[in-house]
Amino acid sequence: MVVGEASRRLYERALTLFPGGVNSPVRAAVRPYPFYVERAEGPYIYTVDGARLVDLVLAYGPLILGHRHPRVVEAVLRQVERGWLYGAPYELEVRLAEKILSHVKPGGKVRFVNSGTEATMTAIRLARGYTGRKRIVKFDGCYHGAHDAVLVAAGSAAAEYGVPSSAGVPEEVASLTLVVPYNDVEAVEEVMRRHGDDVAAIIVEPVAANMGVVPPRRGFLEALRRLADEYGALLIFDEVVTGFRIALGGAQQYYGVRADVVVLGKVIGGGMPIGAVVADAKIMDNLTPAGKVFNAGTFNAHPLAMAAGLATIEVLETTDALARASRAAKAIAEVLEDALRARGVEHTVNRVESMFQVFFTEGPVETPEQARRSRREVYARLHEELLRRGVFVAPSQFEAVFTASVHDSAEVLEQVEGAVREAARALPGGGTG
Ligand SMILES: Cc1ncc(COP(=O)(O)O)c(C=O)c1O
Repeated sequence: MVVGEASRRLYERALTLFPGGVNSPVRAAVRPYPFYVERAEGPYIYTVDGARLVDLVLAYGPLILGHRHPRVVEAVLRQVERGWLYGAPYELEVRLAEKILSHVKPGGKVRFVNSGTEATMTAIRLARGYTGRKRIVKFDGCYHGAHDAVLVAAGSAAAEYGVPSSAGVPEEVASLTLVVPYNDVEAVEEVMRRHGDDVAAIIVEPVAANMGVVPPRRGFLEALRRLADEYGALLIFDEVVTGFRIALGGAQQYYGVRADVVVLGKVIGGGMPIGAVVADAKIMDNLTPAGKVFNAGTFNAHPLAMAAGLATIEVLETTDALARASRAAKAIAEVLEDALRARGVEHTVNRVESMFQVFFTEGPVETPEQARRSRREVYARLHEELLRRGVFVAPSQFEAVFTASVHDSAEVLEQVEGAVREAARALPGGGTG
């Protein structure tokens, strides 16, 4: 049983303790109630009801090597032996910073924080402090975390639960966030013509991964670069998902477009809480204590996150882990497309390396409007049918399917293939199936 009695009992207790029964909204989207995890290992999650699931969620992205990679376990244990919080500087933060900068912005500087949310919040404050301007441009359907400036037309759980623009964000704050459709260059040009002189930053997910997966159209990121330069705004790439996943150098390397500020999270902490802001020194030195833009944190550069992150990146540098993760995603996406075609179900699969998503609509899916045309009830059914067969994909259309290096094995891929083919046959189809 994947979702059975033991999970149900825990969820009932949780409902009396947490709003909606969970501590982050998408976790509640598993129907009829979430499964509870007992432990996880490699490509698998084991539930308290005794099921083994192939994990294609990977905690929404961080676990590029799967669960409990031995090198990461060793690094974390070694750090635990030395203590896990100092409130004072130590060597590992220096080593992880050097490592990240060598791939993302040689010669630049970093500030480590504790989540992607904190990192985009800090990046936006930094851009405002650096430029002396107030407004930011963000894209409809992109998600940059759970703080006021970016909870306007947001993707991910905000879209799933029908609150793309959150209650509790004052109009005065929301009005400083100018929203344009993702992949629409003309709309950005228009907004910049009108407000460009007061735009501190254009913030974008270079591959949108919070409205399903939507890659940038050819020329889109280049146009953002040009417009940022033309109007003196900073270009912020939110690479919380893409960083160290689609390439060691992230989307900047993959698409050959340079950002002024790069925001990282997820993979760089190897599964521990982390976020990072990266930029040239002339921008970064505006942060406290070097400058006047405030940032601080009890847990900033947490030793366990530094240890897990460094071990993870070292594995990515010295093995073919990224290629293996991409290979697994390609294989699974191809099987899914094949099975849906055979079933006669209209669909579009978008994939960038080790992340993909299926939309139940005729393609292409290049804009938030097209993504929202997907028949979400069919996606929800696919999620359920896969879960029943031991494969866990995100319960929401507005998330990505992620793979790790450990999925690239005949055993895992066979299990996923069997589940995908059966699940597709269980969908309401257009054909004979
Ligand atoms: C692109 C992007 N930016 C920022 C965030 C926020 O990161 P966190 O959940 O670590 O606060 C996320 C989270 O999914 C994300 O996908």
